[in-house]
Amino acid sequence: MRAIAEAPAKAIVTGEHFVVHGAWALAAALPRKVHVAVEPSSKFEVVSDQFGKVGSAELLPVSRVVEGMAREFSEKPTVRVTISSDVPGGAGLGSSAATMVAVASAFSKLNSLGLTVPELIDSAMVGERSIHGNPSGIDPAVCAQGGVILFRTEAAPKKVSFEGTRSLILSYSGLKRSTKGQIGHVSKMKDRYPGMFESLAAGISELSLRASEMLRADDMKGLGTLLTVNHAALMSLGVSNDALDKMVDLLLSMGSYGAKLTGAGGGGSVLAVAPEGKEKSIVTGLSARGFETFRATIPAEGVKSWLER
Ligand code: PMV
Repeated sequence: MRAIAEAPAKAIVTGEHFVVHGAWALAAALPRKVHVAVEPSSKFEVVSDQFGKVGSAELLPVSRVVEGMAREFSEKPTVRVTISSDVPGGAGLGSSAATMVAVASAFSKLNSLGLTVPELIDSAMVGERSIHGNPSGIDPAVCAQGGVILFRTEAAPKKVSFEGTRSLILSYSGLKRSTKGQIGHVSKMKDRYPGMFESLAAGISELSLRASEMLRADDMKGLGTLLTVNHAALMSLGVSNDALDKMVDLLLSMGSYGAKLTGAGGGGSVLAVAPEGKEKSIVTGLSARGFETFRATIPAEGVKSWLER
């Protein structure tokens, strides 16, 4: 018998980095998935279509999640974990969080632990901390819960519900980066300019709350304006770079309502919203320039798991 779990990718719509320091952020699950199978084995092993057989450093966090859960729930950590993914790694689209959440969910299912979504998030955070240092927890929260959430540290995520669907454009720069390094850079900026940082964080927190209202009201033009404002704040912190700024400019020049980097920055992906009639040509235009680009319909569902005999 084996347990299968699927967890979605994510995009941070507004508020990344500031969320680590207490601001509200808005995040959406995306309809791209990481698939995980967990089955009993004579030893602990992990196989991934992106990283091959583990030991490789990238998959160490998976063993942290499994070991942590095995210890907490007195289960055997000797399982074979197989991971396959539609989400590019290091692209700011939550591949690591989706993997940790899916591993936690499949391990829970295999051992009939019946963990709730908040408990799965806690288990996944053990792996996330081992990669990112001091993450806010927004990535595993949205990958586990699905849909769209307003998130701040030390509080339960708030679900953002709306009628129908909305669409986002995601485009991957092809540049991998380290979230840990980017979070460290922002902490240094905060230490150096505490007053300025506090004002910026308060502004972005307010911006995230307004962005959630606009998404709910289907005011995509208003939302787009806020995305571009958020990008400027991230630029001022020094987490953007020339490649991402050029992609944002390109998205705006092609008629997007607004655009910004999404996730830790320094590489990874950009996010845009655009009038319905322009989405296709924007996706084609960015793809033609070599950026992996797709339109994502939200809301997308959260983690799911089941047993297979
Ligand atoms: O690792 P990424 O690109 O998904 O970024 C995570 C978002 C940050 O706000 C930069 C970090 C965090 O833990 O919230």
